Amino acid sequence: MIKLNVNGTTQEVDVDPNTPILWVVRENLKMSGTKFGCGIAQCGACTVHLDGKPIRSCSTPVSAAEGKAITTIEGLAAEDGTLTNVQQAWISEQVPQCGYCQSGQIMSATALLRDNPSPSDEQIDAAMKGNICRCGTYPRIRKAIKVAAGAKTASTEEA
Ligand code: FES
Ligand code: FES
Repeated sequence: MIKLNVNGTTQEVDVDPNTPILWVVRENLKMSGTKFGCGIAQCGACTVHLDGKPIRSCSTPVSAAEGKAITTIEGLAAEDGTLTNVQQAWISEQVPQCGYCQSGQIMSATALLRDNPSPSDEQIDAAMKGNICRCGTYPRIRKAIKVAAGAKTASTEEA
């Protein structure tokens, strides 16, 4: 048994320690928001946070998550269901097309804004370059990150 902390909840899973986190999240824990794209750490569709840092869950063994906190797209919204600034910006800017890459995009954008609340275009492109969108939603992703950054700055100023 491997004990995990997923979205703030302790979970025990009976899997081989080499099983990728993506499989555990989707198959064992039945959370399907994290997507399988390439399976070889090249597309970012499977991005989750491990202790707040974005990782490729298709290529990270579940043993690496022991004693750490996994956050998936399902764990981003506040407990009362309030969407995060990034999620709200994704809706207001109507970012998704097919949507397949978007949970990974949101996880990477969330980690970026946590580290850098006001990123430049170049910093956004650098942080997001590992997340591929075959629908080409990159301009809307960049715009939504800027909108979310503005909302974050505004809420910080209000506080
Ligand atoms: S599915 Fe993990 S990076 Fe593509
Ligand atoms: S919205 Fe279709 S792959 Fe990104």
